[in-house]
Amino acid sequence: MAQKKRGNSPTTGSSADPGTPQLPDNRVHSPVLLSEVLKSLAPADGEVIVDGTFGAGGYTRAILDAANCKAFGIDRDPEAMARGAVLSTEYPDRLTLLQGPFSEMESLLDGVGVAKVAGVVLDLGVSSPQLDQAERGFSFRFDGPLDMRMSSAGQSAEDVVNAFGLDELTEIIRNFGEERHARRVAKAIVAARDEKPITRTLQLADLVSEAMPPIRYKKGQPVSRIHPATRTFQALRIFVNDEIGELRRGLLAAERLLGEGGRLVVVSFHSLEDREVKNFMKARSGFAPRPHRHSPAAEITGPAASFELLKRGVTKPTDEEAQTNPRARSARLRAARRTSAPVWNMEDAA
Ligand SMILES: C[S@@+](CC[C@H](N)C(=O)[O-])C[C@H]1O[C@@H](n2cnc3c(N)ncnc32)[C@H](O)[C@@H]1O
Repeated sequence: MAQKKRGNSPTTGSSADPGTPQLPDNRVHSPVLLSEVLKSLAPADGEVIVDGTFGAGGYTRAILDAANCKAFGIDRDPEAMARGAVLSTEYPDRLTLLQGPFSEMESLLDGVGVAKVAGVVLDLGVSSPQLDQAERGFSFRFDGPLDMRMSSAGQSAEDVVNAFGLDELTEIIRNFGEERHARRVAKAIVAARDEKPITRTLQLADLVSEAMPPIRYKKGQPVSRIHPATRTFQALRIFVNDEIGELRRGLLAAERLLGEGGRLVVVSFHSLEDREVKNFMKARSGFAPRPHRHSPAAEITGPAASFELLKRGVTKPTDEEAQTNPRARSARLRAARRTSAPVWNMEDAA
């Protein structure tokens, strides 16, 4: 299908450096915060490392190059797995690809006889190949079917916008898109679909843009630099793929799967995800989230810490990385090391 392109794709570059995975049709995916991920994950010879979001294989390749370890690449996108087959041939006996959601990493690994691992990395969200393929329906920059499913299973964004009630749509757009004008957008969706079903990405992007208040300017510059449909598209994608539920279950699975000393590294791209990761890591390393920024960190009395933080705050990209790879701008890395303490019960969880 011919792609109608609007603006630049956020994760693609015009030239590839040697560490940048080259996709079969010359699109490029630049792994975000790669050197920081490797530093925290610290793969060592003989270890087993899980890349729970294989994508274009950028992290996995770097992990396999950093040490003589074994890697398991998990992704719920069948296309990512198909592309990854090339990488498997480059690292015979060291790379195994497993298709499925990372929330099910324990059963996926159990299926290949692995019960404990030394590292788990998650690089959340969508990949460049997913965003750049109009037919996947993730982007408001290309005209494509309104799909947005990473795994091509379950309900699509088209199902949601055409079937959900006004209140449900408002809630999804407000909660997962943090869109101030959620009600307004939801009303526009309901009005438009009464005329004809909403089936295309640009159809949705245009109607959301029209529903928004006029763009405000300050000193000749628009106050917001993001496309008016950005938050609505983010909300639908998160909802359709149950991304927050996946993340919660994935963190719990990593806690059970990591052996003592094992590293958990998570790169997130928006505040909803980062909040989940921060709360999980801080609570399990013995610190409750601070109620106020000037209050001292409160030590939790309860189960022994199952993690220790590798760094108290987040790691952000350098200015240079943010400039060369715009997708990296909002990236936040958090990392923690598994202690010998037992896994927390759900009742203990923050
Ligand atoms: C940002 S990309 C990862 C890019 C990768 N780190 C690289 O360097 O090429 C995210 C990938 O994770 C996958 N993904 C997102 N959520 C997932 C989940 N819950 N389970 C499995 N895969 C998931 C997506 O399909 C996508 O391919």
